[in-house]
Amino acid sequence: MKGTFPIDKFREMETPFYFYDTKVLRDTLNCVNNEAKKYGNYIVHYAVKANANPKVLSIIRENYLGADCVSGGEIRAAIKAGFPASKIVFAGVGKADWEINLGLDYGIFCFNVESIPELEVINELAGAKGKIASIALRVNPNVGAHTHANITTGLKENKFGINLEDLDNVLDAVNSLPNVKLLGLHFHIGSQILDMGDFVGLCNRVNEIQERMYQRRIIVEHINVGGGLGIDYQHPNRQSIPDFAAYFATFHKHLKLRPSQTLHFELGRSIVGQCGSLISKVLYVKQGANKQFAILDGGMTDLIRPALYQAYHKIENITSEEPMEKYDVVGPICESSDVFGKALDINKVKRGDLFALRSAGAYGEIMASGYNCRALPQGYTSDELI
Ligand code: LLP
Repeated sequence: MKGTFPIDKFREMETPFYFYDTKVLRDTLNCVNNEAKKYGNYIVHYAVKANANPKVLSIIRENYLGADCVSGGEIRAAIKAGFPASKIVFAGVGKADWEINLGLDYGIFCFNVESIPELEVINELAGAKGKIASIALRVNPNVGAHTHANITTGLKENKFGINLEDLDNVLDAVNSLPNVKLLGLHFHIGSQILDMGDFVGLCNRVNEIQERMYQRRIIVEHINVGGGLGIDYQHPNRQSIPDFAAYFATFHKHLKLRPSQTLHFELGRSIVGQCGSLISKVLYVKQGANKQFAILDGGMTDLIRPALYQAYHKIENITSEEPMEKYDVVGPICESSDVFGKALDINKVKRGDLFALRSAGAYGEIMASGYNCRALPQGYTSDELI
């Protein structure tokens, strides 16, 4: 064992694979629940898109979170893991008819609607089933976030949500449609956000919108502020649990809720990010012209975040205590961007060593692809292996 990794067990296993430390996951969930509980009316949904591994999902469900889904497939995965339909919200700019029908058939809590055409389709499909669909309007708050451009969602130029200028028209449309019932407002400004000031910006905008709606005598039942709380990729051990206390306190301080309203969250990365590592084996150590490469059997098909967002994942050689040397750590895929990190200090590497790419529990396994005809990585929990 080095750290919390069962290395002897790992040596018998086929690599690469994802390893989920369930103690970290359960401690994280306890922390979220304890912090949210302080406010009485805070409801936390887990954003299934971050990781839909069935074992991970059932631990989250056992800890009473709801599910935030963005496709019919995610709704099915959530239902299969035992999430009650009454705790499922369904978001997404492009919901297909079959996905809307699936949500209606299960009787999910709420559709987060992003446009008038979508509203009309939901109204029609619900009418055909003799049902009333519960909806929230996803509003694009035009609030920026200090994060990677690819994962900012709440700006005018992004495809998400209803533009603020259109809100009145959409509210008129809701009034004219008999098979939809407005329950809430939904927002999401982006992901991997560590600056609480970004969420303050969102709160201020929500307050303005609520004021506008109040002038029309509308008070919705819930406000959903999406997800986005970031994690500390540099220090997965020191800060394995994100600062949920500061996060919830920010909303408590800056968001003006009416006494009847509940506040919903859709957290993905902050719930599952730190519990997961990609475990990969060193195939070769290769001397380049002026550097050395550690070539792994895991690549961008297993963990695409470094190639796609230039994301940093801490990389450890979990089978060596030798002095550090500098390596470029790369995968086997035929793409120059298949690089996990350059000039990294790593305990001296030899063929067969095992590497852990840390903080990979969110948007890791779920974003894996079969490019180069590779098999998808498996995911195992510490409950199974230790
Ligand atoms: N709610 C909505 C509407 C979202 O679009 C997202 C994430 C979440 C909640 C959850 O956000 P979180 O709490 O995980 O930040 N693949 C990228 C991240 C994409 C996030 C997409 N939306 C990455 O690997 O960084």
